[in-house]
Amino acid sequence: MTSISEEELAELRERGKRLSAVYVYEAPLRAWHWLNALAIVCLCLTGYFIGQPLPTMPGEASANFLMGYIRFVHFTAALLFVVGFIGRMYWALVGNHHASQLFILPFWKGVWWVEVWEEIRWYLFLKREPRKYVGHNPLAQLAMFFFIVLGSLFMIFTGLALYSEGLMQGSWADKIAGWVLPMLGGSADVHAYHRLGMWIFVVFIIIHVYVAIREDIMSRQSIVSTMISGVRTFKDDRAE
Ligand code: HEM
Ligand code: HEM
Repeated sequence: MTSISEEELAELRERGKRLSAVYVYEAPLRAWHWLNALAIVCLCLTGYFIGQPLPTMPGEASANFLMGYIRFVHFTAALLFVVGFIGRMYWALVGNHHASQLFILPFWKGVWWVEVWEEIRWYLFLKREPRKYVGHNPLAQLAMFFFIVLGSLFMIFTGLALYSEGLMQGSWADKIAGWVLPMLGGSADVHAYHRLGMWIFVVFIIIHVYVAIREDIMSRQSIVSTMISGVRTFKDDRAE
């Protein structure tokens, strides 16, 4: 199934052509989406308890390793998260044109900002008809760039900086992110910033899941199933 750009969709609309389904999200992108989502939920849960440790377990200390297991799960999910993000950046280079949407915001296009505003009005129930988009709508693109691209980079560098404390100076993590510790005011502050980052991710997830399900119901195109099958179907493809 062919994949088309927003411009091609607009041209089809102008010619009054009918359009029912388009292939948008390729398999590596979809796999990354769900694995990344799983890793982030895991990181939030284990991260929460790293900062707010559970009460001491009864019995000999040597017989208990609960916090150790929680930190082990955190670090494993964290490294999957880092490798996944590098893979997603690579796919933005080699995937179809929708794959780079997450990383490239067309902020120089005035019409793009107009459409961001139009989406805000639609989400605020101030508009009756939604626009159709093959890929991400401009507001989703803007939100995902800040929350996911910049947010993930922030969590990766603060996380690796914290991880470098355990691996000691001169380690690979220290070489990559050791500079973050003094820059952000030391270990305790980096813990606090890293934790704040978790709550920002939690806010993103709540809004993102609400919008995905809401748009699946209210917009004139498939949303949730598109991130499962990769295909965007249009419920009503009459020209606007
Ligand atoms: C979305 C991604 C992530 C979330 C939500 C998250 C969440 C958290 C939270 C809430 C804490 C506890 C902070 C505190 O209150 O002291 C924490 C600690 C930590 N995280 Fe993450 N984290 C994420 C990604 C990462 C990454 C990518 C790494 C890098 C390897 C990492 C490494 C660490 C380390 C080393 C600690 C400190 C462990 C300790 O002090 O015992 N995290 N994380
Ligand atoms: C931790 C949880 C999640 C995170 C961090 C997350 C993150 C993302 C990101 C970064 C994208 C853009 C994909 C890309 O261009 O590479 C995306 C798209 C999408 N996500 Fe999630 N997601 C999460 C959970 C979910 C859940 C639970 C659902 C289903 C209800 C969902 C539905 C979607 C849909 C439908 C899209 C495509 C939107 C469109 O068609 O433009 N996501 N998500």
